[in-house]
Amino acid sequence: MKLLDSHEIRIDSWLSDAEERCLANDVLDGLTRPFKELPPKHFYDTRGSELFERICELPEYYPTRSEREILETQAEEIIRITGAGELVELGSGSADKARILLDAMAGAGTLSRYVPLDVSEQVVADAAKELVGDYDGLRVHGVIGDFERHLDRVPAAGESPRLVALLGGTIGNFPPGTRRALLRKIGALLGPRDRLLLGTDLVKDPAVIEAAYDDSEGVTAEFNRNVLHVINRELDADFSPEQFDHIAYFDRRYEWIEMRLRARRPCSVLIAGLGLRVEFAAGEELRTEISAKFTRARLEADFHAAGLALDRWFTDREQGFALSLACRPPQ
Ligand code: AVJ
Repeated sequence: MKLLDSHEIRIDSWLSDAEERCLANDVLDGLTRPFKELPPKHFYDTRGSELFERICELPEYYPTRSEREILETQAEEIIRITGAGELVELGSGSADKARILLDAMAGAGTLSRYVPLDVSEQVVADAAKELVGDYDGLRVHGVIGDFERHLDRVPAAGESPRLVALLGGTIGNFPPGTRRALLRKIGALLGPRDRLLLGTDLVKDPAVIEAAYDDSEGVTAEFNRNVLHVINRELDADFSPEQFDHIAYFDRRYEWIEMRLRARRPCSVLIAGLGLRVEFAAGEELRTEISAKFTRARLEADFHAAGLALDRWFTDREQGFALSLACRPPQ
């Protein structure tokens, strides 16, 4: 569906309200398993997105600041290497990281188009209007969708090389096999001159990682419980979110952090919208997120398995986070 079409801004939507982020099916699958689990994308309703923005400002949550430091110091180099005139951003949100790259493109005289893909129509439309006001000659083609399902709706590349960005460490939220499959699908958007720009959090002292996901103000705990509020509202369920403790645990073998919700006492939850009753034993845990932490070697292996190759690697001064440029190697 075409929502908006002017000379500078076009926005296409591929989400119908009924299937937006497919919460119902994920709840049916995830809460009927012997080890309960939900995918992290359901955190992000309006309240969840606000809580996430607060997380990004917390002293313990370093990834946002580290990635910004890399973007600010390397954006010019990234645009010099790639010659990019088009930025496709998967999960663009308010587009404030994109601005750092768009500034560099404008400075290099290559800037032509920004293609944000996000589930929130409002957020994309607001960002598009501000951006076309701030950047002379910029066209914005927004795609409202879920990048796990709607990558094929990204418009074909224009004349100039493009950069396809997946920032924030979001790739770490996918389990390892799914991660490789997603990287392969993203790779299909790349022509020979195009590059993937990928943000990944790096392996470091587990205490530092655990603090980032269990802050002293309890914002992350509220963010974690928010998924239960979302299910209550959308699927007419009767979870008592405050009856669940927030757990953040770094798995040293797999090198990822997990967030879980642990039932304080036995409870029986009715999810009326699905006609489903779910029991939790005292202490039973529901896994709500994994967030993988990378080494350069792991990332190279993932790229290789996805038919991609790492060509540049940038880190912040503390080497806590990395931005990678990857391409499709010539056959
Ligand atoms: C938005 C996926 C980058 O995995 O660190 C923040 C989400 N979860 N605190 C992450 C999150 C808990 C975040 N990403």
